[in-house]
Amino acid sequence: MPRGIFITGTDTGVGKTVVAAGLALVLKSRGMRVGVMKPVATGCSSEDDHLVSSDAVYLFEAAENEYAPLTSPVRFKNPVAPSIASVYEQKETDLGAIRRAFLELQKHYDYVIVEGIGGILVPIKKNYLVANLIREMALPIIIVSHVSLGAINHTLLTVDSALIRGFLIKGVIFNRAPLVNYSLAELTNPRVIHELTGLPVLGTLPDIPELDVDRCRFGNLKSIFEERINVEGILK
Ligand SMILES: Nc1ncnc2c1ncn2[C@@H]1O[C@H](COP(=O)(O)OP(=O)(O)O)[C@@H](O)[C@H]1O
Ligand SMILES: [Mg+2]
Repeated sequence: MPRGIFITGTDTGVGKTVVAAGLALVLKSRGMRVGVMKPVATGCSSEDDHLVSSDAVYLFEAAENEYAPLTSPVRFKNPVAPSIASVYEQKETDLGAIRRAFLELQKHYDYVIVEGIGGILVPIKKNYLVANLIREMALPIIIVSHVSLGAINHTLLTVDSALIRGFLIKGVIFNRAPLVNYSLAELTNPRVIHELTGLPVLGTLPDIPELDVDRCRFGNLKSIFEERINVEGILK
């Protein structure tokens, strides 16, 4: 099995980029050579004559990678599913470019962290979902979820979807737990989800005030990730 992990989530905006970057920061500080990838990026901004993905920049900076084009081989401007962006921007989603970039990253780095696009069933192109990409890459997955009301249903749907496809789930990471004033749902959800799925809960990240993906700010993500997330559970 290739050395790496695919970071998927219950939805867009749940914290896949933050978790992928946090893991990259921690593994790098342990001396591992970590490659990062956002295979398809949508909602990119135009800079000069090219499109820039804030997710890809965040991952690239966290991992201090050397090969920018490999991090983000396919980019679209519109913030929609790739299959839709492709139609509106009249640009094919080049799966070959994704495959080549992934193979190159595997050659250059000990471990490759791939951030998914939205959730597991987001269409990348006709008859090709994020799930198809996970299968091709043959990577185990981490599911990132919010921790608040609704997390049980969202997480279990994603777990089911992954299990029927035979994916190896390393565990669930919850993100943006409030520092104070936990609701009853926030307090109980991780345990309930563990009991219902039997999956490891790898940890919960709190809301980190100085952190901002769009402005490429990490705050103390590295030390918080190290403290709160079971990194051994991800690597084993
Ligand atoms: N733990 C956190 N603390 C503070 N802000 C966060 C945290 N996790 C995510 N965010 C913010 O929430 C937004 C969505 O997170 P992101 O990791 O980009 O989600 P996804 O990659 O799943 O779409 C980003 O703007 C990011 O800055
Ligand atoms: Mg993201």
